Order: sequence, then C-alpha cells, then structure tokens
Amino acid sequence: MSIRPVGITGVGMAVPERVLTNQDLERMVETSDEWIRTRTGIRERRVAAPDEASSDYAERAARQAMEQAGVTPDQVDLIICATVTPDMPMPSTAAIVQDALGARHAAAFDLSAACPGWIYGVVMAQQTIATGLYNCALVIGVELLSKMVNWDDRSTCVLFGDAAGAAVLQPVSVGRGILASVLGSEGSGACHLYTPAGGSRRPTSPETVAQGLHYVHMNGSEVFKFAVRVMNEATSQVVEKAGLGLGDVDLLIPHQANIRIIEAAMKRLGLPSEKVVVNLDRYGNTSSASIPVALCEALAAGRVQEGDVLVFVSFGAGLVWGGLTVRWGK
Ligand code: ACO
Repeated sequence: MSIRPVGITGVGMAVPERVLTNQDLERMVETSDEWIRTRTGIRERRVAAPDEASSDYAERAARQAMEQAGVTPDQVDLIICATVTPDMPMPSTAAIVQDALGARHAAAFDLSAACPGWIYGVVMAQQTIATGLYNCALVIGVELLSKMVNWDDRSTCVLFGDAAGAAVLQPVSVGRGILASVLGSEGSGACHLYTPAGGSRRPTSPETVAQGLHYVHMNGSEVFKFAVRVMNEATSQVVEKAGLGLGDVDLLIPHQANIRIIEAAMKRLGLPSEKVVVNLDRYGNTSSASIPVALCEALAAGRVQEGDVLVFVSFGAGLVWGGLTVRWGK
C-alpha cells in the first residue's frame, strides 16, 4: 500500500442572501448591538429561507469547489458531509448532494462532529486517498443553524448563522498538502452544548416540543473556557507534529465562534492579527462551514500563496476538537 500526499485542490462556499443584523435582533429579543459586538465580535449573520435545506447550500459550495479543482462529478469517489443540521435524520445529506451533483461513482455519508466536522472529514478523506483507495473526495461543511436555534433565547440565537463550505481533496506533490492533523474529544462535556430531544434518548413528542428541547442548549461560559484551552493546545500540537514551529505559520484559520476566543488563542500563541483570518463579524458561528468559508475568503483576498503553511483549528459540541497543518499547493 503506497502512502500518497493529499491536499486541497479546490474550494467553494455558499451563503444565504438574507442578512440578519444585530439591529434586527434588537427587535426580536432583549439584546443590543453593543452587547453582541463586545461579547462576540459578531455584527451580522446569514439566514436561509424557510423552504431551503442544508443540501441546497452544500451542492452550491461543492460545485464551486469542483470547478476550481477542475473535477467533474464522475471523478468524485467520496462525498463527506459534515453537519449537525442535516436535511433530515435519514437519508444522509451527503447522499442527497451526491444525487444533485450527479456524482454517479461516489460513496456518500454524513459526519457528526459539530464545528470541527469539516476538519474531521478532511482527515477521513485524506486516509482514503493516501492509501490509494480513492483519488478524489469532496468534503463539505454545511449548517443551517437558524433552523435549530430558539429565536426567543437571546443567549444562543445571536451567535449562529447559516453557510456551506466545500473542498476537493486529491493527491498532490511531495511536500505539499496535509502535513499533520490532531483530532480529540472530551465527551464528559456533552452536557454543555447539545440538543436534548429528537434522538433515541428523547424522541420528539408534543411534550419535548412544548419544552423547546429540540433547540440547541448551551452553557456558554463552559464552552468558552474549553475553547480557549483547546484552540491553544491543538494549534501548538498540530504545528509541532508537522515538524514546524509557530513562527513558520503563515496563516491561522480558526473556527469563527467568538472574537474573544480567537484573540485569547492568538495572544497565548504569539500570533499577530495579520496572520489570523476573522470573518465572524459577517457570518457569526456557522459551525462546520466556518473554516472552509474562511479559507475561501482568504484565498479570494490573496492571503494565501503557494507553499504557505496554513493551520486550521476548531472546537465544538461533543465536546470535540480538531487541527490541521497544510502546506498550500498542488
Ligand atoms: N444580549 C444581552 N444580554 C445577554 C445576551 C444577549 N444576547 N445573552 C446573554 N446575556 C446576558 C446573560 O443573561 C448574563 O446576564 P446576567 O449576568 O444578568 O445573568 C450576561 O449577559 C452575561 O452572560 P455570560 O454568559 O456571562 O456572557 P459571556 O461573556 O460568557 O458571553 C457567550 C456569552 C458569548 C455565549 C460566550 O460565553 C461564548 O461565546 N461562549 C462560547 C460559545 C460557543 O462558542 N459556542 C459554540 C461552540 S461551537 C458548536 O459546536 C456549535
């Protein structure tokens, strides 16, 4: 079995047209633009239409990524859709996207790892290509969290937004592509960020709906403490695992949850702001879509050059985390 270097050869993103600003939220719940900006850094987020589903955005992001990579649907061997907001519990959103793309030869499955889901998906897809099992994989991070939050709960509804980001993974030249990864979990923290009902533990019933147990529940301060710790640890580990130092990092693309979490990590890691991508002010926390969307925007803005060292790091419900070190280029 040969081990081949694997890299990202194309990226794409799709976000809803509708913008929901902090001022809009002031009219919906007891909050203020000032509170949201100073506590989170978020100014606005995108919200999908009532008749739209995650697969609609996943398909658009995937088409863009395939176009950039110069790949046709027939060439795709594997589609992984990282999402906690699938179109429905079954079938997988990945299978719906496979059909929409006409990717006739692709295996397809969803991956549930919350915000780091896209990083988990990239690592899984990387193994299939590195070993020669597959040649081309699509890894999509997509969330329509607006459909899962309680719009009467100011402690959660101001934080999230809708988006999709996608990447094509293929074999690349030696010295390019994914250099290292770290994935981890601390399931003891599951109670800090979860959707209590709608699964086998508490199937949906009139009572669970009346109690709002189908919405996202979060202990913000516990998630915050966890996030600051793992962003710092996972970044250091994944850079070291690649045989590099923090000074070698050209661009850090962190999960876009809260500017205070990102700034705390930057400070501890000693990374200047010009080396860190931030777009949460415009999108809020889009969970598994946050990193591929930020990567798309960084590329479009000319912030990534051939040979640059990129580090992706994320945390989320589980509690789980993931990090990747990539040397950009084919
Ligand atoms: N507007 C106004 N006041 C608010 C709002 C709001 N939208 N939300 C909460 N408050 C109030 C609270 O009720 C509280 O009031 P009290 O002191 O009278 O009780 C006060 O503001 C302070 O609340 P804290 O929770 O202490 O605020 P904190 O500074 O911790 O910020 C926040 C809260 C932004 C949620 C922060 O804890 C955070 O970002 N945590 C991490 C969340 C996160 O990243 N989650 C996503 C993980 S990724 C995934 O998998 C989806």
